[in-house]
Amino acid sequence: MTLQVVILAAGKGTRMRSSLPKVMQPLAARPLLAHVIAAARQLGAARPIVVYGHGGDVVQQAFAEQNLDWVLQAEQKGTGHAVQVALPVLGNSGRTLILYGDVPLISVSTLERLVVAVPDEQSLALLTVHLANPSGYGRIVREDGRVVRIVEQKDASEAEKAISEVNTGILCVPNTLLHEWLPTLKNNNAQGEYYLTDLIGMATAAGVPVTAVHPDTVWEVEGVNDKLQLATLERVWQQAQAEQLMRAGVTVLDPARLDIRGSLEHGQDVQLDVGVIIEGRVVLGDRVRVGAGCILKDCEIGSDTEIKPYSLIDSAVVGAHAQIGPFARLRPGSRLADEVHIGNFVETKATVIGLGSKANHLAYLGDAEIGAGVNIGAGTITCNYDGAYKHKTVIGDDAFIGTNNSLVAPVTIGAGATTGAGSTINKPVPEGQLAVARAMQKTIDGWQRPRKAPKA
Ligand code: UD1
Ligand code: CA
Repeated sequence: MTLQVVILAAGKGTRMRSSLPKVMQPLAARPLLAHVIAAARQLGAARPIVVYGHGGDVVQQAFAEQNLDWVLQAEQKGTGHAVQVALPVLGNSGRTLILYGDVPLISVSTLERLVVAVPDEQSLALLTVHLANPSGYGRIVREDGRVVRIVEQKDASEAEKAISEVNTGILCVPNTLLHEWLPTLKNNNAQGEYYLTDLIGMATAAGVPVTAVHPDTVWEVEGVNDKLQLATLERVWQQAQAEQLMRAGVTVLDPARLDIRGSLEHGQDVQLDVGVIIEGRVVLGDRVRVGAGCILKDCEIGSDTEIKPYSLIDSAVVGAHAQIGPFARLRPGSRLADEVHIGNFVETKATVIGLGSKANHLAYLGDAEIGAGVNIGAGTITCNYDGAYKHKTVIGDDAFIGTNNSLVAPVTIGAGATTGAGSTINKPVPEGQLAVARAMQKTIDGWQRPRKAPKA
């Protein structure tokens, strides 16, 4: 049977107290809804259906590139009504899985077990859990061990409220039954809503057996209603990421102090110190060590390179056996060869640096092409911007740039050239020559420093 997935995402999310729709709130830097859509796709749903309401424009724009069917539920009349409005896009055969845009950690393996429990048109499967405190949830009513109906908290008798098995809301139903039963839902209940959960009673009346499946972990079925729950699930997700990395051989000095907000590919014996944040796609070679507080985004770091504490790397490539930081900032377009050293308070942008070159202290290297074996003195700045355009600085192999130089681009410094400390270089420096461009030191004989007149 084919599978369609309907994701309910029409709720307002008032308790978030945010201008951002609830399903757009980020978990591991991706909207909650993105996690659910990813699960739907992994299950093989080519075109998941999203039932939206509040903040629909923002949500649709964020997912504009994706193959999704959007169904508007203008007025929220209950979960049953939400699936009703999706009926026109549900096929006449096959089965449909109902997910929730605010239940982000649902796992594909749990859902696979749920879906296989609906092999034909005479079956239905429901995801349930046992909770120590079931308050607020719909309760699973069983007779002779079989699931017969769901009763919502507000409609439950005292005896029913004592039931600890609850409805997670996630279920899988043959499309034929949805088309037959959803139009007949009534809202004669405590909340005046059309309850999706009434399908279970209908199944029982029709002699369709209901299979209860349990999730792999309880976190998977937790919904997010406020920032506290959002942070709780973020930690659950991050702990899972850290565990996965440690099982793959990464040394994580404290799994509670690592944030993976993207993907991390890695070699052997990689070490991540506390407070490391990974964003976008990051690739680390063998034995890369990342120091405390580093933020690595969309970058590749070669084997045996050390990123010392509090360095920021964004859209850059670093070779092997390099040393970066502490307090270094590699901005987009930085491409550093093997054995390069970048020290504290050095910023690079759109700059290529050759084998073994060093900029160890307090420098800005922007729009530069730097050869191999170059030494950049402390405090050196490429003056790459004239207020309107960016210009290039080219430095040949084995050049030695003195301390506190201003390299006024466009400018070329030849291979093996040397520049004197404090120079402002705005003309080409020939290969192998020394250029000094600063006011020469003078001694003024007998000069007196001004002194304050003695108080009267
Ligand atoms: C629902 C279930 C309950 C279950 C609980 C699990 C029903 C009647 N009850 O209750 O058995 O234990 O979830 O959390 O289904 N939504 C829409 N449109 C609507 C109403 C809801 O899109 O008209 C969406 C909401 O955005 C939300 C989800 O459906 O993501 C659940 O709705 P909510 O009103 O929170 O259901 P509960 O009362 O919690
Ligand atoms: Ca709820």
